[in-house]
Amino acid sequence: VAPLKVGIAGLGTVGAEVVRLIETQARVLAGRSGRGIRVVAVTARSKAKKRGIDLRGVEWVKDPMALATHPGIDCFVELMGGAGDPALSAVEAALSAGKSVVTANKALLAKHGLKLAKGAEKHGGALNYEAAVGAAIPVIKTLREGLAGTGVNRVYGILNGTCNYILTRMEQEGLSFAECLADAQRLGYAEANPSFDVDGHDTAQKLAILASLAFGTKVAQSAVYVEGISSIAPEDLRAAADLGYRVKLLGVAVRTAKGIEQRVHPTMVPKSSSIAQVMGVTNAVTIDGEGIPPITLVGPGAGGAATASAVVADIADVARGIRANPFGRPISHLRDTKKAPMERH
Ligand code: HSE
Repeated sequence: VAPLKVGIAGLGTVGAEVVRLIETQARVLAGRSGRGIRVVAVTARSKAKKRGIDLRGVEWVKDPMALATHPGIDCFVELMGGAGDPALSAVEAALSAGKSVVTANKALLAKHGLKLAKGAEKHGGALNYEAAVGAAIPVIKTLREGLAGTGVNRVYGILNGTCNYILTRMEQEGLSFAECLADAQRLGYAEANPSFDVDGHDTAQKLAILASLAFGTKVAQSAVYVEGISSIAPEDLRAAADLGYRVKLLGVAVRTAKGIEQRVHPTMVPKSSSIAQVMGVTNAVTIDGEGIPPITLVGPGAGGAATASAVVADIADVARGIRANPFGRPISHLRDTKKAPMERH
């Protein structure tokens, strides 16, 4: 069988790690997929940047659009980020050309996921995005495949590694918000514009994706109530601790009689609860399914290696010829997202 030919747009921390994993894990991946996986072309802002990866024999393409429609690739891997162009046009073009797409871009999916899924459905390519939520945690597959036979009533958790890292270090070391954020940026956890992290939008994007998969509704970031952590100071965390609580930025999506309620805000959680034990860059997602006790997935939610792990798994699925409906159902089965009024819990 011919190897799967992959084109990668974006060679930052994640992209470089994907290239490295495809090379170092080649035998394992070929065993799982039944065929080889080969990076044949890439595009990135800087060709000269030192990345510590071997790109000999790999074609440099001038821009993302040229790569997306490159006749020599089967699978377009979008790792540029951002809800708009060039990512949007490039992914649309790749899908229209019948290629499969793998992306880690939650902003793009939360805003244009439905339109992109339509493109995938129409032209037959896969649209895989496991890395977009919870990085290495296989939460997309859990909701879409693992729980395919189970109704979901609620999905919630800690979905932003940067915020949890900041809150953890502020509480444990009494450091300022700004110092902790600077460290999160240095470690490669934060978004290019870190206000997406600290103002809660990144969590909202991930929550909107999870809610669509959990409830069979059309993904809609605009239906999420959002409040971030930027006004929280170490004193607030100390005051909460004195009362036996810890502060976490939670994303919660819950089925109510009036629709799906989706909200993101800092929440006081009892120190003894399991969610309070989730520290640092770790993410945790709890799924309340009908008739079964809650399932909680915990793991690294940000960083190059954790994100690349999920991207490579998605590429391996493409190589195996597995194609899921991006949001778990055919587009025509997805219901409109009715924004439920906020209720006190
Ligand atoms: N900035 C994101 C986070 C990266 O901190 O969780 C992973 O999506």
